[in-house]
Amino acid sequence: MLVPPPLSLYVHLPWCVRKCPYCDFNSHEQRGALPFGDYVRALIADLEHDLPLAWGRTVHSVFFGGGTPSLFPADAIDDFLQQASARLRFAPGCEITLETNPGTAEHGRFDGYLAAGVNRLSFGVQSFDDGCLQRLGRIHDSREAEAAVKLAQDAGFDNINLDLMYALPGQDLAGAAADLERAFALDPAHVSHYQLTLEPNTLFAARPPGGIPDEDAAWDIQEHCQEMLAAAGFEHYEVSAYARPGRQCAHNLNYWRFGDYIGIGAGAHGKISLGAAQTVRRRWRLKHPTAWMSVAGGADALGGDEDVEPSRLPFEYMLNALRLHEGFALADFEARTGLARTTIAAELADAVSRGWLDVDRERVVPTALGRRLGNDVVSLFLA
Ligand SMILES: C[S@@+](CC[C@H](N)C(=O)[O-])C[C@H]1O[C@@H](n2cnc3c(N)ncnc32)[C@H](O)[C@@H]1O
Ligand code: SF4
Repeated sequence: MLVPPPLSLYVHLPWCVRKCPYCDFNSHEQRGALPFGDYVRALIADLEHDLPLAWGRTVHSVFFGGGTPSLFPADAIDDFLQQASARLRFAPGCEITLETNPGTAEHGRFDGYLAAGVNRLSFGVQSFDDGCLQRLGRIHDSREAEAAVKLAQDAGFDNINLDLMYALPGQDLAGAAADLERAFALDPAHVSHYQLTLEPNTLFAARPPGGIPDEDAAWDIQEHCQEMLAAAGFEHYEVSAYARPGRQCAHNLNYWRFGDYIGIGAGAHGKISLGAAQTVRRRWRLKHPTAWMSVAGGADALGGDEDVEPSRLPFEYMLNALRLHEGFALADFEARTGLARTTIAAELADAVSRGWLDVDRERVVPTALGRRLGNDVVSLFLA
């Protein structure tokens, strides 16, 4: 029996000062003044379009992702949150995260975000090495990144994530370790530590920069950095996510636990469990900001809207849940897919025999080997 899980709200803000050469997110270089007011109006229209899918449900987290959400002035974020909370019930203590590029940290902006209700910031730092930052095409240097985080802390933010990437062009193990030391000195609550990937359709994929550490070197960096993060008191709870106790990202945890989310804004994806129909609906928006804005609020703004084939649900569930070190409870698998645990019994037994998963009566937990071979484990569950 499919039981609707916790609900989150994802808000996509698609513009950046400059497009980074490694980035395949739906982000667009800013040309001229940005239409903040019109964009917020379009977001609310989009939200209203999705409300019938979520009547009576409470929102447990909000995430402004991008692009560069910190290009938006605080009053636009405030306007959006006020209008959204008049239409949806926000849980007490609802986590509200805003992604921030350190190159957009104007003085006074953080007080405004805090007053608007934002209570968590995620900074795209990437590295504290100025040579690496230049090769990544970033718009800020390491001093600006440190200054931006301190400005936010002075404004009163205490729940801060730093995004770092490793295996960067020209980076060795000592350089990656030095990046982590500089991050620790800022006392973040959370660190996201991503291996740089060459995504198709990016400048880096077309013309890879020299000096990217090979897979063995990248593995050494990862292992060493994991030890450093653990020694500094960060729990490794997901492939790339590390948190101080109690500071896991509630929004991302909800994705990984196969929770529900409304996704609004250009190119945003949503997933909603419909109890009456016993189905999981996926819905996504047109990708291009101006195309989406011109039709937001109507069915024309949808890039797609479809129910997930039940035979695909085990794979989609595992793609998320097996990223977590905690794994998942079999009862949650049943509640979130509407499928009996017996439908995955053969695949689970196969994964256990290969040493990839531990299964007891109630929980499924990836082993260290299973975490390392994540894609192979998940592909066992392809229909
Ligand atoms: C939407 S961006 C975050 C905020 C903001 N746009 C910024 O870059 O400062 C999300 C994060 O994904 C990571 N990321 C983006 N492209 C990546 C890639 N090709 N490989 C690994 N990590 C990547 C970066 O750490 C980035 O901060
Ligand atoms: S600032 Fe962030 S979202 Fe924008 S292009 Fe760079 S990595 Fe991508």
